[in-house]
Amino acid sequence: MQPTQTYQIAVLPGDGIGPEVTDEAVRVLEAAAPAHGFSLAFETYPIGGIAIDQYGEPLPATTLAACREADAVLLGAVGGPNWDNETGPRRPESGLLKLRKSLGVYANLRPVTVPESLADASPLRAERVAGTDVLIVRELTGGIYFGQPRGVRHHVWKNTATNTMSYSEHEIARIARVAFTWAEKRSGRVTSVDKANVLEVSQLWREVVTKVQQDEFPQLALDHLYVDNAAMQLVRGPRQFDVIVTGNLFGDILSDLAATLPGSLGLLPSASVGGSVGLFEPVHGSAPDIVGTGKANPLAAILSGAMLLDELGEGAAAQAVRHGVDAALGAGLRTADLGGSASTVEMSQAVVDAVAVSQNHVPA
Ligand code: NAD
Ligand code: IPM
Ligand code: MN
Repeated sequence: MQPTQTYQIAVLPGDGIGPEVTDEAVRVLEAAAPAHGFSLAFETYPIGGIAIDQYGEPLPATTLAACREADAVLLGAVGGPNWDNETGPRRPESGLLKLRKSLGVYANLRPVTVPESLADASPLRAERVAGTDVLIVRELTGGIYFGQPRGVRHHVWKNTATNTMSYSEHEIARIARVAFTWAEKRSGRVTSVDKANVLEVSQLWREVVTKVQQDEFPQLALDHLYVDNAAMQLVRGPRQFDVIVTGNLFGDILSDLAATLPGSLGLLPSASVGGSVGLFEPVHGSAPDIVGTGKANPLAAILSGAMLLDELGEGAAAQAVRHGVDAALGAGLRTADLGGSASTVEMSQAVVDAVAVSQNHVPA
């Protein structure tokens, strides 16, 4: 008999609702693994505000080393009001940015789908959003988040602050390739989003994305939108999009906007890939307004877990998790963000139960 494959997963719960939702994602992953002939070994490490409190920095060296050695990293969220007065490298968010940069995960995949069963949960009209299936490919380790120079210059009454949006051809070409490669497996259409009517960095972005398409993916369709129009089009007619590729800041903003399509940020998962180890994180943050209330929707974290399984090559288990989520939603279960009253644990328990049923054994 083949020895059972065990994957090492570094779990970084972080702050706010991060621990609440990662606990549930771990429970679902544990339920999915056995029937597919592998097991998962989870080890938890601090990141973000809790790491600042305990170790004086948001990304302790032990956490980074553990992530580098793991087969995958599952992250909750970082940040919150306790640390809002921190600056620079002492902010919880800088720990997450350093982790992404250190792992080299330059491609952040943010799928946004609206199953028929959820169309009524959107603040937008159901017939406009039903059937939406968009993949936002967000560049994650460059752009204005990392550009130099940056910082604050202090002068009496004349303080100034600077950030720099900068992209190299190499950075643009490699994220464009990720987007086109995904489009090949989907409907073959990529929309590149920029601000080329104003920014030189976007003019280079547009030129390089166009060249990659012409030279390497001539069979695919490419169009370009300015980011302000893209925001409007995403709300007006989301089904016109298949793969969207964009820079770090625009991708951050457009993905929260896109959360209104299925109805909640608590549904959107993400995978940050392209480096040595994949990082799997919900799109949402630490949700300080609902922490400790049992209202956090665990599905974004659970679906990030499904993306993690895909990346490990465990596609059948990933599908089992997704079917479990569909079954729980299809049965009408909703957390508060979707207008229901199910708690975090009730929601994930429904997913665990559905995963178990689909695998033909009933949980003890
Ligand atoms: P947020 O995503 O935490 O919350 C925005 C709104 O969405 C809130 O009303 C919140 O209750 C709701 N929400 C988010 N996730 C939810 C879930 N799973 N279930 C139900 N409702 C959910 O954004 P914010 O309030 O702007 O930021 C709070 C903190 O989180 C900040 O410190 C920010 O920097 C940080 N943040 C971290 C990440 C990350 O770690 N990846 C992402 C975004 C924001
Ligand atoms: C996200 C978050 C992060 C980002 C913050 C917390 C650094 O908003 O993952 O979308 O801006 O990338
Ligand atoms: Mn964001």
